[in-house]
Amino acid sequence: MKVSLETRSPIDARADMLVIGRYSDAARPAAALAALDTRLDGLLSRVLKAERFEGKPGQLAHFYTGGRVRADRILVVGLGAKKDVGAETVRRGASAALRRARDLGASSAAVFMPADGLPARQKAQAIVEGAILGTYRFDRYLKDKSDKAIQALAVVEPERRSAAAARDGLRLGEIWAGAACLARDLVNEPANVVTPGYLATRAEEIAKAGRLGVRVLERADCAKLAMGAYLGVAQGSQEAPKFIHLTYAPKGRPRRRVALIGKGITFDSGGLDLKTADGMLRMKDDMSGAAAVLGIFQALPQLKLSVEVHGLIAATENMPSGTAQRPGDIVRALNGLTIEIGNTDAEGRLTLADALAYAVQETKPDEMIDMATLTGAVVVALGQGISGVFASHDGLAQRVLAAAETAGERMWRLPLHEEYKEGLKSDVADLNNVSSQRGGGAIVAGLFMKDFTAGIPWAHLDIAGTAFSERDHALGPKGATGAAVRTVLAYLTALGGKR
Ligand code: BES
Ligand code: MN
Ligand code: ZN
Repeated sequence: MKVSLETRSPIDARADMLVIGRYSDAARPAAALAALDTRLDGLLSRVLKAERFEGKPGQLAHFYTGGRVRADRILVVGLGAKKDVGAETVRRGASAALRRARDLGASSAAVFMPADGLPARQKAQAIVEGAILGTYRFDRYLKDKSDKAIQALAVVEPERRSAAAARDGLRLGEIWAGAACLARDLVNEPANVVTPGYLATRAEEIAKAGRLGVRVLERADCAKLAMGAYLGVAQGSQEAPKFIHLTYAPKGRPRRRVALIGKGITFDSGGLDLKTADGMLRMKDDMSGAAAVLGIFQALPQLKLSVEVHGLIAATENMPSGTAQRPGDIVRALNGLTIEIGNTDAEGRLTLADALAYAVQETKPDEMIDMATLTGAVVVALGQGISGVFASHDGLAQRVLAAAETAGERMWRLPLHEEYKEGLKSDVADLNNVSSQRGGGAIVAGLFMKDFTAGIPWAHLDIAGTAFSERDHALGPKGATGAAVRTVLAYLTALGGKR
C-alpha cells in the first residue's frame, strides 16, 4: 500500500473511495464535511438520514458522488461520541472503512477524519496503522487469492500548519504497522517453514537491511556459555537450535540500554509431557515473542531512537523423541541455578531463563522486557483480548502500561506475589520449573523467570491469549495479531526522546 499526504480539501481528494469519519453526537458536522455536503447538493446528509446513520463506532454507509466531487464514491464511518474519540477510535475506524472499501472494489482511498483534539501527527499515524493492519491478509498458500487490494492510501489533512506533523505521523504509521505485519507473517507461517534456522536467517536479513549487529550462536556456542536450561529443551528436536542476538546502537551516547527477549519456540508439542491434539493445534504461534522482536528490529533503524537495544531469541522446537528431555531431569542454567524438570511442557520459561541470564551477563542492560506466549493460565485470567504484564519495578510497569495505551493494545498488570515461590521449591535442585501448588500459573511462571534477572528492572509480557486471534477483530483478520510490537515501539520511543 502506497501512502501519501493529501493537503487539499476532501472535496478535491482524488481516489476511488473518499472515506470520512463522523461522530454520533455532532450537532454540526466539521466545517470540511459541511462544505462537502454543500458541494454534493446535500446528498451526504440525505444518505445518512435515509440509512438512519447514527455514527456508532464502525458503522458504515457508502454512496456514489455522481461526479460532484473528485472521488467516485464516499464511505462514511462512524466514530462514536465526540468526547470519546482518541487514536484507537480513529485506528479502528480506518481499519473498518479500508477493509470495506477494498471489498467494494476500490483500489485507492483518501481518508479524512475530523478527530478534533487529536494532534495531527497522532491522527495521521492512527489512520495509516488502521489501514495497513485492517487490510492485512495472509494468503500466500491459497490458490484462489482475492485480487481486491487498496494500492494507494491518501491521508487528507487540509490544515496547512499541520502538514509536517501529519507527514511525520504517516511515516511512523507505516513503520509501526509494517513491524506488526512482519510479526504477523512470521507467526502465520507454519512450523514446517519457520524453524529456528529460518528465524536466524530472517534475523540476519533484517540486520543487513538495517545495518544492525547480529550474532547467531550455535548449539556448541550455547554449550560453552553453559545454557543448560535452553539446550535441555532443544535436545529432543531434529532442528538445530539458534540463539539470536541482534543489536541496535544509536549514533552518539545512548540514553538507555534495553534488552528485548522473545520466546522463540517454533513448535511446542509439549515434549515428552505431550500436549493433546487440541492443545497442540495452534502451537506454531509459540514463537510470537520472537516474531515481535524481529518486527521491532526491522523498525528500529528507521526510527533513529537514542536507545541501545539488544534483541535476544533462544529459538528451538519442543519435541518428544529418544533424545528428548525427561521429566525429573536436572539442568543448570547460565547463571548457575539448577532446575528440576517437573514438566517438559513448561519449556518457555527454561529457554527464557537462559536468555535473561545471557542478557544480564553479555549486554548489561538498564532494563529488560520479555514477550512470550508463556502460559495457558494468563488466557484463563485475562482472556484473548488482554496481555498480562508482570514487572519487578513499578516505574517500568507504569511506562509499559502507558505505552500500551498509546499503541491501543490492552494490557493489565498482574502481581509477582512472592509467597507463591514456595511452590517452585525442588528437593533436588534450586528450582522446579512448575509449581506444586494449584492455580496462579501465569504468576508462577513470572516468579520462576525473576530468578534469572539479577535484580535488573524487568517486565514480562505474557501474550499467550493475544498473539493469535480465533476470529476477525477490529484491527485485522483471524490469525496472528502482532501483539506487543507497537506497544514496545511506543515504549522505546518514549525512552529514546526523538521520535
Ligand atoms: N506455549 C505454552 C503456553 C500456551 C498455552 C500458549 C495456550 C498459548 C496458548 C506453554 O509452553 C505451556 O505449555 N505452558 C503450560 C505450562 C504448564 C505445563 C505449567 C500451560 O500453560 O499449560
Ligand atoms: Mn509448553
Ligand atoms: Zn510453549
